[in-house]
Amino acid sequence: MTSPLWRPYAPQFEATLPIPPPKNLTVATTGASGAIFLHHFLLTVEGDERIETVNFIASDSALRVMAEELELKGRSNLVGQILGSKPSKKIHVQSNADIGANVASGSYPADAMVVIPCSVGTLARIANGVAAQLIERAADVSLKEKRPLVLCVRETPFNKIHIRNMYRANDAGATIFPLIPAFYYRPASLDEMAREFAYRVLAHLGLPQRQAFRWRG
Ligand SMILES: Cc1cc2nc3c(=O)[nH]c(=O)nc-3n(C[C@H](O)[C@H](O)[C@H](O)COP(=O)(O)O)c2cc1C
Repeated sequence: MTSPLWRPYAPQFEATLPIPPPKNLTVATTGASGAIFLHHFLLTVEGDERIETVNFIASDSALRVMAEELELKGRSNLVGQILGSKPSKKIHVQSNADIGANVASGSYPADAMVVIPCSVGTLARIANGVAAQLIERAADVSLKEKRPLVLCVRETPFNKIHIRNMYRANDAGATIFPLIPAFYYRPASLDEMAREFAYRVLAHLGLPQRQAFRWRG
């Protein structure tokens, strides 16, 4: 059920956004808890006509966590399993082991990258330039090409290494967008909370969603 505090999207807001909005997104998922956030992020991306191409990478640990949290079974029809629908024409799976995939090169026109959820292990590799697998390599490329890189880090509590690595990644140009949902719009369910979080990440990238809650003060 939609909370009574949800507000319709204000079209005039578009005037203040970066132009043009990203069309080609890289979405990675890692072995941190929070697969429901990925589910809603991919659903929103799938339904957003402004986004033409999504390259999607899942680490092995992400599969383990998704098996727990989304009851996924293996890599077969991975995107269809996550979306809970038929396979997507827009979302293309890339192997994390394939460091020769399109998004491994700065010459490939990816507009922005999101890691959701981002484990502190992946955060550590990105923050320290360890680019042995495709997720870290694509993130490394995003930073060197000065393209938006959003890391939805999830862990609790943080140790000093995690905090240092968040600082390092942010210092290199990444946005630390922790999996910390808002509560002031009074989400009625986990799905509503995760969906609104997906909207916030996309708005941050210049892709505001019409259904998103907007605080009126
Ligand atoms: C059910 C489950 C939940 C986990 N939750 C987290 C988490 O919230 N944050 C985190 O950083 N690691 C978490 N881990 C541990 C990571 O999956 C593990 O460190 C893994 O090596 C990360 O690999 P990746 O960064 O290549 O995906 C979890 C593991 C499991 C099995």
